[in-house]
Amino acid sequence: MSSHTSYALAHPNIAFIKYWGNRDDDLRLPANGSISMNLEGLETRTRVDFDDSLSADELRINRESPDNSATERVSRMLDEVRQLAGMQLFARVESHNNFPLGAGIASSASGFAALAMAASQAAGLELDEASLSCLARHGSGSACRSIPGGFVEWKMGTGDADSFAIAIASPGYWDLEDCIAMLSSAPKVTGSSVGNRLAGTSPLQAARVIDAPRRLAICRDAILGRDFGTFASIVEEDSNLMHAVMMTSRPSLFYWLPETLRVMQAVKAARAQGLPACYTVDAGPNVHVLCERSAVQETVKLVESLPGVREIRLAKAGGPARLVENSPRAEDGS
Ligand code: PMV
Repeated sequence: MSSHTSYALAHPNIAFIKYWGNRDDDLRLPANGSISMNLEGLETRTRVDFDDSLSADELRINRESPDNSATERVSRMLDEVRQLAGMQLFARVESHNNFPLGAGIASSASGFAALAMAASQAAGLELDEASLSCLARHGSGSACRSIPGGFVEWKMGTGDADSFAIAIASPGYWDLEDCIAMLSSAPKVTGSSVGNRLAGTSPLQAARVIDAPRRLAICRDAILGRDFGTFASIVEEDSNLMHAVMMTSRPSLFYWLPETLRVMQAVKAARAQGLPACYTVDAGPNVHVLCERSAVQETVKLVESLPGVREIRLAKAGGPARLVENSPRAEDGS
């Protein structure tokens, strides 16, 4: 019997300049570049075991067997790895997250980043960071940004080989904290893979895409200059633009709850009073409230006083996807 096993860990990431819409849906070549920060403390740990006793790929997420579509998506990435490695063994994949699935914290990002790293290693491939990022991108666009560490930019590239993410600043470069206001942990109604395919049906998407280089440059410079005021304005503008596209696509997508808007408004009002905090919202109802580390306590106090906020998770900039030696269990064992 032969078996090849690897474990890897990856963090989800929060986008400051969002990816929404592809110019090639199958290859997940994005309509625009994006910028994000990995989230320390939140993680997916994935174990991949290519085993000649298996007759099909097997997948378990948080100790449960997910639906067929999730297994098929994982098998597609395993097929790519098998093809690159010239091997035919099926794999057993066990994945554990320490945060809720499908609720606006990108579990697909950390999931496919950890899978790309564990599967390629278990198959004996030695991929560099750019190739790993491309492989992760094929599973879920935002996953390519969970391969490098810290503050990350996904360059849209000209084709499959050069559309990958690179680090623009290390995790310790800027003391930024993400205070995630959890409003609902229910899985989202429309997953981001399906939503991404609808982006082009909004008449606003073309304007959002054409203006993206401007927003990317402002955001990149604000991070490198640790300029919170400029960062806050561009991050909120970019989130609002993406949600305007979502709300005006056909069919329309509304990811916000009434409480989502309440948190956004309260954060904006507090910033006008001097609190260095801003909001951004992904494809779910939870609000990511970004603040300077010195303002974490005050920000948490504000956010926890708002209606509908059930829990706050704090995350600073996290490291890259990496191999781990120990058990595949996520820290809280969920
Ligand atoms: O990579 P996907 O298909 O999960 O899409 C992610 C889309 C957003 O989270 C809404 C934005 C982003 O850039 O992460």
